[in-house]
Amino acid sequence: MPAVTLAGVSKRYADGAREAVSALQLSIGDGELLVLVGPSGCGKSTVLRMIAGLEEVSGGTIRIGDRIVNDVAPRERDIAMVFQNYALYPHMSVFENLAFGLRRRRIAAEEVERRVLAAADLLGLEGYLDRRPRALSGGERQRVALGRAMVREPRVFLFDEPLSNLDARLRVQMRAEIRRMHQRVRATMIYVTHDQVEAMTLGDRIAVMREGAIQQVADPLTLYARPVNEFVASFIGSPPINLFEARIAGGGALEAGGATLAAPAVARAALASRLGSMVRVGVRPENVHVAEAGENGLEARVEMCEPLGNEVLVHWQTPAGALIARVPGQISPAQGTRATLRLPPEKLHCFDPRTGTTIGAAE
Ligand SMILES: Nc1ncnc2c1ncn2[C@@H]1O[C@H](COP(=O)(O)OP(=O)(O)O)[C@@H](O)[C@H]1O
Ligand SMILES: [Mg+2]
Repeated sequence: MPAVTLAGVSKRYADGAREAVSALQLSIGDGELLVLVGPSGCGKSTVLRMIAGLEEVSGGTIRIGDRIVNDVAPRERDIAMVFQNYALYPHMSVFENLAFGLRRRRIAAEEVERRVLAAADLLGLEGYLDRRPRALSGGERQRVALGRAMVREPRVFLFDEPLSNLDARLRVQMRAEIRRMHQRVRATMIYVTHDQVEAMTLGDRIAVMREGAIQQVADPLTLYARPVNEFVASFIGSPPINLFEARIAGGGALEAGGATLAAPAVARAALASRLGSMVRVGVRPENVHVAEAGENGLEARVEMCEPLGNEVLVHWQTPAGALIARVPGQISPAQGTRATLRLPPEKLHCFDPRTGTTIGAAE
């Protein structure tokens, strides 16, 4: 049985011109770590807050286990939530911060101690239990905030951008810790972030949201390789997928910037019914190659290079538009270098220019 099920869940705020969340369908498996990702304002926090019971739903049902919880009070939902802005009690030690919520629930002292010590052990906080929050680093404080959720031993953990206040290095470290914690406690977790890299590295499955609606739910590699639309294709991946316009020609060909490119096999049948019209084409930076002599492709000229140490991002200027290539190694071609670019047909994504939907995607 799924741990959490949202069926047709919608939210319209009293002063909202449009729905913040529209008819959302989503099921989170027992023990799964699901990441909800999307740009700021797309409705992620609203979804979490409805699951937690901090916000009423305007339509649909939310189930936790087999129970519909639409009208169940937050404290009876067996859920713990970790926010970006966690407030630790400054005058209490780490131990007391972790124990506070449990004591208030009148849990027996030995049980409180057992849970606090178990969480401290898992999060590497044993040496800090007597300290006050101000004597902790940002990362240590964030671990206390995680610990406070863990000691409740909830059925479901909800995380709302819990790492956004940390610097980049600490974020990477905490990400690994959350993954480890998930593997150890095997609890159900829903993790919200606007950061696609965080989503890709954390999630068993990722749900991509835009303007209150889920676009695609899939594992990280499927999202990357088989996005259902241009929005998902552009949102996942850094540097982002290159996009340009092409005209659909006969025989499975696409014309762009004076070059003829072969369309991917999966899209050919659908493209054949749109001969002469335009299509949006996407290609990821690692699939932009310099052609061998005699091969045809897009004529291009190096505009600039970004050497990253292990790879170089080459910015090419072409008649079809700018294309970024990701090239392993350390050699940067000189600015102004001319070349022909080869775009392997099976690595091209075709999108309907009006709806953004992927043409020829497997259903
Ligand atoms: N309490 C509220 N009252 C009215 N509108 C809100 C409220 N909270 C959020 N919204 C609106 O709902 C939409 C989704 O917000 P939110 O769920 O916070 O997005 P996210 O967490 O993805 O950034 C936004 O347009 C936001 O302005
Ligand atoms: Mg939010």
